[in-house]
Amino acid sequence: MELLGAATVVLLVCIACLLSLAAWKGRSGKGKMPPGPAPLPILGNVLQVKPKDLAKTLQKLSKEYGPVFTVHMGSDPVVVLHGHDVVKEALVDRADEFAARGHMPIGDRANKGLGIIFSNNKEWLEVRRFALSTLRNFGMGKRSIEERILEETEFLLEDIDKTKGTSFDPTFMLSCAVSNVICSIVFGKRYDYKDKKFLSLMNNMNNIFAMMNSHWGQLYQMFSNILDYLPGPHNKIFLEFDALKAFVSEELKVHQASVDPSSPRDFIDCFLSKMQEEKDRPNSSFHTENLITSAFDLFLAGTETTSTTIRYGLLLLLKYPKIQEKVQEEIDRVVGRSRRPCVADRTQMPYTDAVVHEIQRFISLIPLAVPHTVTKDTHFRDYVIPKGTTIFPILSSVLHDSKEFPNPNEFNPGHFLNENGTFRKSEFFMPFSAGKRICLGEGLARMEIFLFMATILQNFTLKPVVDPQELNITPTLSGTGNVPPVYQLCALRR
Ligand code: HEM
Ligand SMILES: *[C@@H]1O[C@H](CO)[C@@H](O)[C@H](O)[C@H]1NC(C)=O
Ligand SMILES: *[C@@H]1O[C@H](CO)[C@@H](O)[C@H](O)[C@H]1NC(C)=O
Ligand SMILES: *[C@@H]1O[C@H](CO)[C@@H](O)[C@H](O)[C@H]1NC(C)=O
Repeated sequence: MELLGAATVVLLVCIACLLSLAAWKGRSGKGKMPPGPAPLPILGNVLQVKPKDLAKTLQKLSKEYGPVFTVHMGSDPVVVLHGHDVVKEALVDRADEFAARGHMPIGDRANKGLGIIFSNNKEWLEVRRFALSTLRNFGMGKRSIEERILEETEFLLEDIDKTKGTSFDPTFMLSCAVSNVICSIVFGKRYDYKDKKFLSLMNNMNNIFAMMNSHWGQLYQMFSNILDYLPGPHNKIFLEFDALKAFVSEELKVHQASVDPSSPRDFIDCFLSKMQEEKDRPNSSFHTENLITSAFDLFLAGTETTSTTIRYGLLLLLKYPKIQEKVQEEIDRVVGRSRRPCVADRTQMPYTDAVVHEIQRFISLIPLAVPHTVTKDTHFRDYVIPKGTTIFPILSSVLHDSKEFPNPNEFNPGHFLNENGTFRKSEFFMPFSAGKRICLGEGLARMEIFLFMATILQNFTLKPVVDPQELNITPTLSGTGNVPPVYQLCALRR
């Protein structure tokens, strides 16, 4: 009897597989979904596509199925865009059709359609436009973004100086410095690196990123419908979100009591003015809850990304001391020692600029970008992408394209230099993605990476604690983000 039961189950599973295979065969091909490996019911392509190191697996699949293909993450189909040509064709040439944000269970549950990263339609457009103009260099009144960054570099240098040439892990202080830049922009003030409130904010963010980059985070992206009903670490992340939003909300109260519309101090003040301006408009996107969610988005998108890039960059300079030396030569020649580097120096510093670009290219921080979608059935090349299908534009496939960058897996600033030593621009430089969803903080991030690195190298020479040859520079985690291995360095006064 039991045997019969088991046989029935096996038979049913086989039938389910065959049916789904048949259904899948009918759905892909010319005039239909892009091709791809046959999925299992519910589990999708877990056999071919491991959450760990997605970018590498997808590269293999693109060799088999071409630049546009379909994989199933759980039961949902995902259309993958692989290589510069298709990514550009979709995100840039057909920007309007491919600008929508795809379904992201974590972000959708946390932000409820508000804010910038996980929103769509009119709400997204209005708040994004407002945030972009506010984040322009003088968008927030008298103090420029550059000034805010330069203020923070002094505190960072001081902290580095306190290590007195002994070895340390730079993770914490870089996170503090970069978070403080966002604090300065959003709240109009920075915090001491030992401030209790600041430390708990930092702790929230660390937990959020560890969680999002973990296997649990990946699984939640695929199986949220099931996991929402189960206990597990994925539930904790929402508590961290709430704590971060509570922090913003507390600051908001202080601002409401002291705002002067004629001289906005920061992002919150600007948003409050905008709310006032639109108070009689029905359905305005500018209300308190959206202020909190947008500010939250700036922390979410603007801290770990930038500090990880700088931390990875310093590791690469330890690995390649000759490159570090050439950057220092350029700093000494163009800036000297008597004043700080500023953004205006960048055009005079093609080598340093090339090194910064090469760091971002090489590490390919967010290899799969952030999911997009199409809001109606969309013809693309020979296929039709149905409305609502998740789309992954694979940024690492563009950044590591050997057509543009010979030996793409080699760290070589020459990738961004002409033969005469001038800076060489590349259309393939897409660490911030491209098109209408391009990173809102691109300008800010590029300023921060340049200014933090240039000021550190103006004062200090960085030395590894092991032979450079032995330094491991391959990323430790390749889920949503490429994170460098933990390392130590010594900063010696120059
Ligand atoms: C090295 C640092 C950074 C990298 C590599 C980076 C990269 C990205 C990428 C790949 C996206 C997704 C684009 C897409 O959907 O196609 C994105 C979105 C975004 N980034 Fe950044 N980012 C960085 C720093 C920042 C900073 C400093 C801010 C702070 C203002 C920021 C704010 C945002 C926002 C708000 C979005 C969502 C845009 C939207 O959906 O319209 N990012 N970023
Ligand atoms: C950095 O270098 C400048 C110029 O050489 C010097 O005035 C300053 O004290 C140094 N700062 C630190 C923190 O070492
Ligand atoms: C406001 O939103 C509601 C529901 O989304 C819609 O029915 C209404 O037409 C909107 N009003 C205006 C003035 O846009
Ligand atoms: C350097 O080379 C690039 C292209 O190879 C060229 O466009 C540029 O004008 C040259 N600049 C100088 C100063 O020679």
